[in-house]
Amino acid sequence: MQDKKTDVPTNSPAVQRQRELYIGGLSGKRPSIPISFTALQSAAKEKMSPEAFAYVAGGAGLERSMHHNVQAFDQWRIWPRMLKDVSQRDLSIELFGKKLPSPFLLSPIGVLELARPEADLAVARAAAAHQIPMIFSNQASFPMEECSAQMAQAPRWFQLYWSKSNELVASLVQRAEACGCDAIVVTLDTTMLGWRERDLDLAYLPFMQGKGIAQYVSDPVFQKMLDEPEAAGAPDVIPHINLQTLTNLTRLIAKYPGSTLGNFRSKRPLQAVRKFTNVYSRPSLSWQDLPFLRQCTRLPILLKGILHPEDAKMAVDAGVDGIVVSNHGGRQVDGSISSITALPHVIEAVKGQIPVLMDSGIRNGAHAFKALALGAKAVCIGRPYVYGLALGGEQGVREVLKNILADFELTMGLAGCKEVDEINTSMLMKIGG
Ligand code: FNR
Repeated sequence: MQDKKTDVPTNSPAVQRQRELYIGGLSGKRPSIPISFTALQSAAKEKMSPEAFAYVAGGAGLERSMHHNVQAFDQWRIWPRMLKDVSQRDLSIELFGKKLPSPFLLSPIGVLELARPEADLAVARAAAAHQIPMIFSNQASFPMEECSAQMAQAPRWFQLYWSKSNELVASLVQRAEACGCDAIVVTLDTTMLGWRERDLDLAYLPFMQGKGIAQYVSDPVFQKMLDEPEAAGAPDVIPHINLQTLTNLTRLIAKYPGSTLGNFRSKRPLQAVRKFTNVYSRPSLSWQDLPFLRQCTRLPILLKGILHPEDAKMAVDAGVDGIVVSNHGGRQVDGSISSITALPHVIEAVKGQIPVLMDSGIRNGAHAFKALALGAKAVCIGRPYVYGLALGGEQGVREVLKNILADFELTMGLAGCKEVDEINTSMLMKIGG
């Protein structure tokens, strides 16, 4: 006798995606956005300026952390189960009381204008189309309000860099609340910029050209700070004027909000870059500062950049609402522990008291599956979507997300899981101790 279930056509997004790609092949069509990460990155490299590509693709020092983030997933092998009726697959999860259709978020990535002029706006639309929360970067190319306006009711979070000014911190957080963000992610690992050799060799830092400072120049507190004199001894940003400096200055002035002539006269764009470089980070930040943030917002607060289990315990004790295990894509400390290696230690320390998310090195569905099996509640996609943006704008990001979602759905089903909650450590084997 035939079971009724076998009559149900399998038409999930993953199967549709596969079909669409294979059917395209019948008429000689290849995917416009490459599927594999390696091909995606190579194609994006062709589209981006050498400086832009170096900034996105590069890491700290010898880039060991960056490579290890991906390689270390090989320590774990998926151990599939059979005969589990995986005809219907549900990717949804619940996070901070909200249902999300998949266990993915978009990592906060600054200066997206390096990939494409529409930058964050295109990413916001693509994220909204998949209802994947976009974590707005503190270093975005567009103010959070403009990104939010692209997203209707779709979920969004805000990532904060804790600057030298608590007033600025409070202002950014209030803006995030006002534009519908569901959580604040404080990135802890960038108290200073890592030693990034590709960028240093090109002598290139986008912020110096006024790129990636939109959250600041759109902020009333930052604007007020521009009216105040610089502290004695604060470094200047233009030591020598030459033709290149003038070209960069012209671009900076043209980019800055307001009229070009007015900006030229007021020198405000230059003051903004100088002020930004002097205030954007606070190396003295410590656990004692966290209560200030707690007072500023009722939104869940997550700490991004936690790798050590002792820090994870301190985060729980400090009363934060979540952790993002991350080494910033290997851009800060070369030779650091990879995120996926740190994850089980953090999970053990946290003991289920708060959700733990994982970021750094997620390239495909199997990576996401492994992170979830080790106890992550959700994972963040970083560089892959930037390359999608470089190649195809909003559509490029949508395609990258579609591919990762499809791959994850198939991996989950093929490993014997119908739901995300069924993914657990019994489905992994550790290789080599
Ligand atoms: C980042 N990352 C980052 N993180 C953050 O908290 N705020 C930011 O503004 C940025 N900006 C940024 C720019 C670029 C070009 C990259 C590549 C990364 C780090 C990001 O959130 C995430 O941790 C890493 O991208 C994860 O590594 P993979 O998976 O992208 O390799």
